[in-house]
Amino acid sequence: MNDIDIEDIDIESFLSELYMEGQINDSKSINKIDKYLNIMPETGKFLGLLAQITSAERILEVGTSNGYSAAWLALCTDEDVQITTIENDSKKVSAARENFLSTGLVDRIKIIEGDAPMILSEMSKSFDLVFVDMDRKLYLDILEDVIRLTRTKGVIVFDNAVSHKEEMTDVFNYFNGNSQFHTYLAPIGKGEFVALKKW
Ligand SMILES: C[S@@+](CC[C@H](N)C(=O)[O-])C[C@H]1O[C@@H](n2cnc3c(N)ncnc32)[C@H](O)[C@@H]1O
Repeated sequence: MNDIDIEDIDIESFLSELYMEGQINDSKSINKIDKYLNIMPETGKFLGLLAQITSAERILEVGTSNGYSAAWLALCTDEDVQITTIENDSKKVSAARENFLSTGLVDRIKIIEGDAPMILSEMSKSFDLVFVDMDRKLYLDILEDVIRLTRTKGVIVFDNAVSHKEEMTDVFNYFNGNSQFHTYLAPIGKGEFVALKKW
């Protein structure tokens, strides 16, 4: 347990400072691997809203980075909502853990360090909301597991659906051509592709 009370945290200041940190880090980083590549603040609000609309109790994120989007999800939901997030870069895992510790969120956000396709294939408990924001080349590889891990009437969201739409064509085609899903491309932030699992 940690002794920081979430009530004591100025959520808006914390999130804007974390976002600024990410922007500064990314402008200074020459290698893409060192960039945090955070979602945009409006995407954080949107994810928080989806978490509430779906009455999410269990949320899965694929691609933690320094924890900015997971912090949004945690800070927009009740204390008993559990967030699991997967990241394979140990430096980013440490940065995220620091950020969760400093806000008292560490007990609510479980970071699993490792390769997402492998980890997802071994997971079995389902989630109400799944946010996918990782290496887009692997999206097709993880799709079946992401869908299996999403409960009926649960929601899957993919970031970068406008900013990198060419790289997402296979994902769009997969969901749009499948009557099990109701989809929507929300023009928010970098573009959020939302798929509701109808059954
Ligand atoms: C766009 S960033 C995530 C940003 C984060 N969602 C946020 O808004 O704060 C993508 C992250 O996915 C991680 N990643 C890429 N490939 C991965 C893999 N195979 N397994 C786990 N994490 C991976 C990267 O290290 C990177 O931190």
